[in-house]
Amino acid sequence: MKTRTCLRVNGTQYEVPPSFSGRRLLDYLRSALGLVGTKEGCGEGDCGACTVLVDGTPMCSCLLLTGVLDGREVTTIEGLPEAFLSQFAAICTEYGAVQCGYCTPGIAVMAAWLRDGGNDMNDEPVSKLFEGNLCRCTGYQQLIEALTALS
Ligand code: FES
Ligand code: FES
Repeated sequence: MKTRTCLRVNGTQYEVPPSFSGRRLLDYLRSALGLVGTKEGCGEGDCGACTVLVDGTPMCSCLLLTGVLDGREVTTIEGLPEAFLSQFAAICTEYGAVQCGYCTPGIAVMAAWLRDGGNDMNDEPVSKLFEGNLCRCTGYQQLIEALTALS
């Protein structure tokens, strides 16, 4: 029986140490790989601060056990294309869509998914798509305007 867990993170293949296989993907990314761009907010799947892409789909890394992700492809904010991140930062600045920035990595990952055709914009308004990303300090209106301009 195979007991090792291997996964790709931002294009690099990793074998997960046994001590992390029973822990959350969020812990593995931050503590084992040093990818601290992925944030912990609620730890319960409610705030979206920990959002990463798993095989191209946005998921809360606080709800995923690393040991069940064998063979999966994970993308964190550190793995998003530089050109996209620059554009995202510029548009957030233009619209005043960032204050403390704690929620921003999760929102950037969602925005990248949206940009890559993860959703048909004709079906769902941006405001609906980002309902799972909470922000405690910036008004949502600025955020929605920025994300709409980006998409
Ligand atoms: S920390 Fe994962 S959804 Fe809030
Ligand atoms: S900018 Fe502070 S939580 Fe969103």
